Amino acid sequence: MSSSPRTAVAALLSALAVVACTDAAPTATSLEIPIEASLATSAADPRLMALAGQKIFEDTDLSLRRNQSCATCHDRAFGFSSPNAQENAHGGVLPGSIPTRFGSRRPPMAAYAAFSPVFAYNAEDDVFIGGNFWNGRATGARLGNPAAEQALEPFLDSTEQALPDLACVMWRITKAKYAPQYYNAFGTALKKVEFPVSTSAICQTEGATVPLGPKQRQLAIAEYDNVGRALAAFEQSEIVSPFNSRYDAWLNGRGKLNDEELIGLKLYEGKAQCALCHPNAGQRALFTDFTYDNIGTPGNVENPAFIRSGFIDQGLGGTLTRDDLRGAHKVPSLRNTDKRPHPLAPKAFMHNGVFKTLEQVVHFYNTRDVLPVCPAGVDFRDPRFGLTCWPAPEVAENVNVDELGNLGLTPKEEKAVAAYIRTLNDKQ
Ligand code: HEC
Ligand code: HEC
Repeated sequence: MSSSPRTAVAALLSALAVVACTDAAPTATSLEIPIEASLATSAADPRLMALAGQKIFEDTDLSLRRNQSCATCHDRAFGFSSPNAQENAHGGVLPGSIPTRFGSRRPPMAAYAAFSPVFAYNAEDDVFIGGNFWNGRATGARLGNPAAEQALEPFLDSTEQALPDLACVMWRITKAKYAPQYYNAFGTALKKVEFPVSTSAICQTEGATVPLGPKQRQLAIAEYDNVGRALAAFEQSEIVSPFNSRYDAWLNGRGKLNDEELIGLKLYEGKAQCALCHPNAGQRALFTDFTYDNIGTPGNVENPAFIRSGFIDQGLGGTLTRDDLRGAHKVPSLRNTDKRPHPLAPKAFMHNGVFKTLEQVVHFYNTRDVLPVCPAGVDFRDPRFGLTCWPAPEVAENVNVDELGNLGLTPKEEKAVAAYIRTLNDKQ
């Protein structure tokens, strides 16, 4: 895609971000919540929703075997992405509540994702913008907020929290210590759902359904949507998305960046072209234009879904069943992208986690079209990976060759770009 539509989209988005953020209600507590219009129109108070949302996010009881919460896969110390050392170093995808089952994609950050607009086609620039998930399938059309809809999937996904029925989520919330916080945010309608005595046993059984009459079922469904709203409010709150990185401090005149980081910033906006898709303009920039692209990321041969069935990720092309979008994945925010508790904690990057260091990612953007394609059998575990060659893309069609692939950065410049991106890590 050419750079002019990108710039138009970027300008629009930074305008949106400013509106969303200046609407934040000043509060007496330390919790400041930038309210998206969609959440603001819901009757509940976003601060109360976020407080309930935090408890729900951290509650391992909301999984089939009471062993997995959202936080298991979206850990604060890793910028709310995967903390799993073994998987980050290898296949990149995580096991679920049933530990022999794996997903097929790497967990992106839950931080800053809740600012994604509702999925829409922008005819002027011929791009799709917004939504949640790598392939945009949580559109936000129904609840007015992609993150609220996204949050309803993991509880019931058999490869994630694996509960058999949304009524189980609601029932376990009524039994939780934090139930009063939920009622504070959303009122006590949930108490009117008459869960049968068998609910406890049913909720430990895969594939089971809690028998509820039609009215009771409707009520449970409506309350389940509130769980999505609470989680989105938490993700938007300053607990998860604090905008308190060294870069933010520098923008606000409250901190310094060193020379290398400042050179990296200039390259990021210029020669390296990163800002075309990960725009950094303005205060509280989100470092994504929320569009979709195939940047030619190689497949991850250790992804269990690939090993099992040769899984190839079609990205947005799969969601929309459009060949011209095969391999296009959501442009992720670069805030916290390299956040980890210590420099040796394994990390993974991209939808399939094939890259393991930020330096490798920058080198890929710089030399994807300069180095030859690797011989068959050379994958990310091979010392030649990224040194003398790059493997072919996971999806060979629709690869963006205009904005990346041969940037002409020197090794020192590559290092500077990585150094700049690390200034986007939030304070703990
Ligand atoms: C087993 C690990 C796992 C658990 C548990 C889990 N997630 Fe995720 N999360 C993922 C993966 C993998 C993806 C990407 C899936 C995809 O794109 O198809 C994801 C995607 C997301 C996204 C989308 C971010 C974006 O930029 O589009 C958000 C937000 C998120 N998860 C929040 C949550 C919340 C809230 C919960 C709890 C209800 C949760 N996750 C539970 C692994 C997990
Ligand atoms: C044409 C748009 C585009 C440009 C230009 C671009 N990116 Fe990206 N970036 C993407 C997309 C799309 C993804 C996700 C691709 C995937 O998962 O396969 C991504 C992913 C990333 C990731 C992984 C983030 C994560 O958490 O997994 C990093 C880091 C990154 N880009 C850095 C950069 C840097 C540095 C530059 C400039 C050298 C840059 N990008 C230029 C579109 C772009």
